[in-house]
Amino acid sequence: MTLIEAVEEARARLHEAGVAFGHGTTNAHDEAVWLVLWRLGLPLDQLDEVAARELDASQLAAVRALVDERVRSRRPAAYLTGEAWLQGVPFTVDERVIVPRSLIAECIADGSIDPWLDERTHAMLDLCTGNGSLAVLAAMAWPDVHVDAADLSTDALAVARLNVERHGLGERINVFQGDGLAAVPGRRYDLILCNPPYVNAESMAALPAEFRSEPALALAGGADGMDFIRTLLAQAAAALTEHGVLVLEIGHERMHFEHAFPTLNPVWLATSAGDDQVLLLERAALLPLAAPPD
Ligand SMILES: C[S@@+](CC[C@H](N)C(=O)[O-])C[C@H]1O[C@@H](n2cnc3c(N)ncnc32)[C@H](O)[C@@H]1O
Repeated sequence: MTLIEAVEEARARLHEAGVAFGHGTTNAHDEAVWLVLWRLGLPLDQLDEVAARELDASQLAAVRALVDERVRSRRPAAYLTGEAWLQGVPFTVDERVIVPRSLIAECIADGSIDPWLDERTHAMLDLCTGNGSLAVLAAMAWPDVHVDAADLSTDALAVARLNVERHGLGERINVFQGDGLAAVPGRRYDLILCNPPYVNAESMAALPAEFRSEPALALAGGADGMDFIRTLLAQAAAALTEHGVLVLEIGHERMHFEHAFPTLNPVWLATSAGDDQVLLLERAALLPLAAPPD
């Protein structure tokens, strides 16, 4: 069997088994390509060059075993391979973190945050850093900026540290553990990026098995998905410099967000998943929500 025939066999198997996508791929073909090329130790972006290659019996058995494992366990492919890509950058992943897929990565790459940054932009925070992917991408995109990365989960931070080291950014990214902004007391940032847990309870209950392989702490945002965000928006102004901005991902929760914060008028940043999943708030807009000091 040729490699491309093995890809087609894997595609059909994934399709028929009804596995869920959304962890780096959106369809059975792309996921099959990923699994087959990874199992064979081949570059993931060079299918055409190797498509006609004949697989020997042991290679074919290894590919089929991996696809079987994907179908049987329903674990995202990235947990089976230990690696995921975001904006072409590889990240180490395992079950301690969600698989990197934040739409904020697109906003970093396409320059849509840049109009709010200038020569005063020195300090940035990736809040809820998880696997550390946004901190790494931000440090790569803005080489003069120092990045702090914070998370409640010590397990997640262990993986974030692996990714900071993997990309040689130990000098530029500091990692902090704690609950929300309490992880970085007294610090002020020119930019805060945050992809928090925001999935509402009803959606959590309906998630496919692949998403239930991920830490619930990373996804569940309470009844309306806004638990973490409510606290964050009450505290964010105090953690931003005068010209600072918050970039926040809310996924499909716009309705709940607008219900919870009816007076806010955020700037919506366009993404491949829609124009209402990532928003930007300037410090001035956050001041009216600021919790009074104790
Ligand atoms: C949706 S994941 C985002 C991970 C990563 N930034 C990304 O985009 O792939 C949310 C992260 O928030 C963390 N988290 C949950 N509750 C938190 C809290 N109260 N304070 C800080 N981090 C929290 C979880 O551990 C998880 O790593």
